[in-house]
Amino acid sequence: MNRLNLRTKTLNTITVVGTQVDTRHYIGGQRISSAETFTNTSPIDGTFLGEIARGTQTEVDLAVDAARKAFPAWAALGPKGRGERLLRLAELVEENIETLAQLETMDNGSLLRSHRRGVMPRVALNIRFFAEWAINELHHPDFETRGHTNKIAWDPSGVAVLITPWNAPLMLATWKIGPALASGDTVILKPAEWTPLSASFFADLTKQSGIPDGVFNVVQGFGKEAGAALVAHPGISRISFTGSVPTAKVIARSAADNLTPVSFELGGKSPCVVLEDADLDLAVELAVEQYDNAGQVCLSGTRILVHENIADAFAEMFKEKALHIIQGDPRDEATQIGPQIHQVHFDRVKGFVDRAKDSGANIVMGGEPNSDLGGLYFRPTLVLNPDPTSEIVTSEVFGPVLCLQTFKTDEEAIAMANSTEFGLAAILVSGNKERAERVSKELVAGTIWVNCFFVRDLRAPFGGSKKSGIGREGGNWSFDFYADVKNTVFSPNGWKE
Ligand code: NAI
Ligand code: MG
Repeated sequence: MNRLNLRTKTLNTITVVGTQVDTRHYIGGQRISSAETFTNTSPIDGTFLGEIARGTQTEVDLAVDAARKAFPAWAALGPKGRGERLLRLAELVEENIETLAQLETMDNGSLLRSHRRGVMPRVALNIRFFAEWAINELHHPDFETRGHTNKIAWDPSGVAVLITPWNAPLMLATWKIGPALASGDTVILKPAEWTPLSASFFADLTKQSGIPDGVFNVVQGFGKEAGAALVAHPGISRISFTGSVPTAKVIARSAADNLTPVSFELGGKSPCVVLEDADLDLAVELAVEQYDNAGQVCLSGTRILVHENIADAFAEMFKEKALHIIQGDPRDEATQIGPQIHQVHFDRVKGFVDRAKDSGANIVMGGEPNSDLGGLYFRPTLVLNPDPTSEIVTSEVFGPVLCLQTFKTDEEAIAMANSTEFGLAAILVSGNKERAERVSKELVAGTIWVNCFFVRDLRAPFGGSKKSGIGREGGNWSFDFYADVKNTVFSPNGWKE
C-alpha cells in the first residue's frame, strides 16, 4: 500500500486483519467523511492501519442534530422497546467477538487472548446488563407523604456525549453506551484518536441490531478539535468522560458554560497495601498483576506498600516472578505484556523513568525499553524506596512502572495509601479479616479490593474519590446520571372520579 496515495485520497473502508472497517464517521445512520484525516497505526509494530476521517465543528453539529432528532422516538420506546434492540446488539457483539478482538488488538496492542476471552464477552455483557436493569430493576417503591403519593421515574434526558480513552476502547465505551441508550438518551461517541477502529465496527452492529438511525453516532477525531466541539455544544444533555485529570479540567470548564452535567472516571495512583500478616504468595501475585496491559490501566495499584519486616522477602519473590513476565507480540498466546499504545505515550513513560534515574532513584528491575523487541515495548520496571515526594510516586505514569515503599504500622500504611491526590482504587492484602476491615474503612478510594484485584460487578458502584473522578457508574448510579430523575407527587384531593 502506498501511504502517500492514501493520504491524498482517503479510502472509505480499510481492511484490518481481514475485516472491512469504515474510516468515516457514523452520523444519523449514514457514513460521513471529512475534508481531513488522521493516521492510525498499530502499536504492535508500527504498521500503518489507515487514514481516519477527522471530525470538526461541522461533523459535531451534524451529529448533535441527528441525535436530537432521533431522541423523542427512542425515548418513547420505553425500556422494553429499547431493550429488544440492545439485547440484539449484545448478541451481535457475541457473534463478532473474534473480529472485535482482532481489531482491538491491532489498534491498541492489548492481549488478543484477553480480548477474546474476557474483554469482548464483557462488552456484550455491559450492553445486556444495562438493558435488563432498565427493564427489571430500575424502580423505586412509591411512598406516602401525608396522604400524597410520591412516584419516582428515570426519564430520558436527551443527547449524551461519551468521550473515551484508548486503553480499553470498546469495553470502557460500553460502560457508558449501555446505560445511556437504556436510559433512553441518544448517544454521540468520540473514541480516542489512537484507537478508533472498534467503535466504527460497533456502529455497524448497532445498525444491524435495529437501533434507529441517529440514536447512536460516532464522531472521530482529536480531543482538542472534535472532542472540544462536542462537550461545548449547547444541544447536549450529558457528558461522560474517561481519561486524564488535565483533560477533565478542560472539559469541566467547557461544560460549565451550559451547565451540562458531567461524569468523570479519571486516573489513579492506587496503593497495593501488603500488611505484615499477608499471604506472601498471594500478595506477590496481586502485585505482579499490576503490570497488566503494560501498566495502561487506570485502576493499577502502582504504589506497592509493604510492611518493613516482610519487604525484603517480598521484593525477592516479586522480582523472581516479574522477571519471568513474557513481553512480546500481543497476538501470541504466551505473551503477558505488550507494547505501549503510541510513541508519544512511550516517550512520556520513558521520560518519567529517565527523570527518576537522573534524580538517583533505585531502579531494581527494568527501567528501559525492551531492546530485544524495539518499538514501543518498555520493560516491566520496579523502583525501590523512591523519595515519597518524587513524581514517580505522586503522578500517574500509565506504563509498566511500579514503586515499592515500606511502612512500620497500619496507621502509617493508611497515611501513605491516602497521600496522593487520587482515590480510584486500593488493594489490601492481609491474613486477618478484622484487621482488613478496619484498615479498608480508612482507605479513601472508590473501590477497595481485599486479597483480590479487578473483581467488577456491574451492580456495584465504580468511580473515583478525590481527583479520580466525579460520580459513579454501575447499577442505578449509571441511570441516576444519564436520566432525569423525576418525582411526581399525587395529592389525595381534587379528583372528580
Ligand atoms: P486524554 O484524557 O487526553 O484523552 C482521553 C479522551 O479525551 C480521548 O478521546 C481524547 O481525544 C479526549 N480529549 C482530549 N482533550 C479533549 C478536550 N479538550 N475535549 C474533549 N475531549 C478531549 O488522555 P491521553 O492524552 O490519551 O493520555 C494521557 C494520560 O491520561 C495517560 O498517560 C494516563 O495517565 C491518563 N489516562 C487515564 C485513563 C483512564 O482510564 N483513567 C485513560 C487514558 C489516559
Ligand atoms: Mg491505533
